[in-house]
Amino acid sequence: MGDNAKFSINGENYEYPVLTGTEGPDVVDIRKLYGQTGAFTYDPGFTSTASCESELTFIDGSEGVLLHRGYPIEQLAENSSFMEVAHLLLRGELPTADEFSDFNNTITRHTMVHEQLRGFYQGFRRDAHPMAIMCGVVGALSAFYHDSTDINDPAQRMIASHRLVAKMPTIAAMAYKYSIGQPFVYPDNDLSYTGNFLRMTFGVPAEEYEVNPAIEKAMDRIFILHADHEQNASTSTVRLAGSSGANPFACIAAGIACLWGPAHGGANEAALNMLHEIGHPDRIPEYIKRAKDKDDPFRLMGFGHRVYKNYDPRASVMQETVREVFETLKVKDPVFEVALQLEEMALNDPYFIDKKLFPNVDFYSGIILSAIGFPTSMFTVLFALARTVGWVAQWNEMISDPGQRIGRPRQLYTGPTKRDYVPIDKR
Ligand code: ACO
Repeated sequence: MGDNAKFSINGENYEYPVLTGTEGPDVVDIRKLYGQTGAFTYDPGFTSTASCESELTFIDGSEGVLLHRGYPIEQLAENSSFMEVAHLLLRGELPTADEFSDFNNTITRHTMVHEQLRGFYQGFRRDAHPMAIMCGVVGALSAFYHDSTDINDPAQRMIASHRLVAKMPTIAAMAYKYSIGQPFVYPDNDLSYTGNFLRMTFGVPAEEYEVNPAIEKAMDRIFILHADHEQNASTSTVRLAGSSGANPFACIAAGIACLWGPAHGGANEAALNMLHEIGHPDRIPEYIKRAKDKDDPFRLMGFGHRVYKNYDPRASVMQETVREVFETLKVKDPVFEVALQLEEMALNDPYFIDKKLFPNVDFYSGIILSAIGFPTSMFTVLFALARTVGWVAQWNEMISDPGQRIGRPRQLYTGPTKRDYVPIDKR
């Protein structure tokens, strides 16, 4: 703990403890501020507010650092697997060989969904956005798995966490299959988490599907890169929903809804659409000019981040992965050239330099996903699939904290002061 922070309001002086974590900025503990001073703090967008204590993920935005339980994302992306990272986030440590096999078996044995859940899909229009289906179906899980909704039972919490991580690929693949009118493909427990997802998405019952190991590895790496990102908007949504005691399936559905927005998980879809719209490197200056114009709402999608004021470490891994996937699939997509040149031009432009705007994870991910064969509408679904483990790990961490209370922000009220009701004929 550092020195106390001194605070003065209405002529009175107060002191608040300064707490120090293992990494990152100190925080001023203002929990007693309202009780002592009668004042709230004001921080819309939470740019200066730490909403919780967490041991899961650390980001140093100015240095471009992302650690999960201390391990740098670059090392995890290079050497680990999504299942291993899932264990790390959920259980706190990288698994031993035995622990890994145990965890992998547990997740694999939960990949099927209740048969009646299949019927649930028929209620959606075929042209429904798969994220709309995800919000509905994941929320509906609480109606199918009653035996894991008691949040006060740690064993039930763990089963719900395993179910969510395990079933998300099945649910996501089914959302895709439904949208293209193909039959659902059941999970194959002989395959890896990611291989199984690829088969359920791209396989058909009429023929054998062979998982391409290079694509499986690239996809797995994409999942690792999206597994957790501390208190971002969707994770904070999951925590806030969970703080009221709502069941985990409902909380994750809330996270999915938040992730859908173009400022968050929807950005990779928007980034790829933008790159296609630009179409040729010759048109890049025109778009850079628009992004800088205050009167034009256009922004460079996949650029800028609330926390990273340096290169997003996930974006560099993504850029490498694009090259690998293109080599494997022997594709050449002019959009990649547009992306590379756009990045270079923006990084040399004073507007982007001054505002510390760098490519984020979404800038390159759409290009890879599209090369693998996913339609843009599935991009955010893949993000939700991978982020589920982060959401459930954060939710578990919150619920396990004995001091946990319902999240309830306050406000600066600027509406009318008290006034009397006027009957309709007198208004
Ligand atoms: N293109 C052009 N200008 C930008 C961009 C951009 N992509 N991003 C930020 N700016 C400018 C803003 O206009 C603002 O300028 P001003 O200070 O002159 O008003 C300044 O940079 C700061 O931007 P804010 O919107 O205040 O920053 P904030 O932290 O609130 O927003 C956000 C971060 C939402 C990610 C923003 O950079 C953005 O909209 N980027 C494009 C969408 C995107 O890629 N989102 C993905 C985020 S990563 C993820 O969710 C996985």
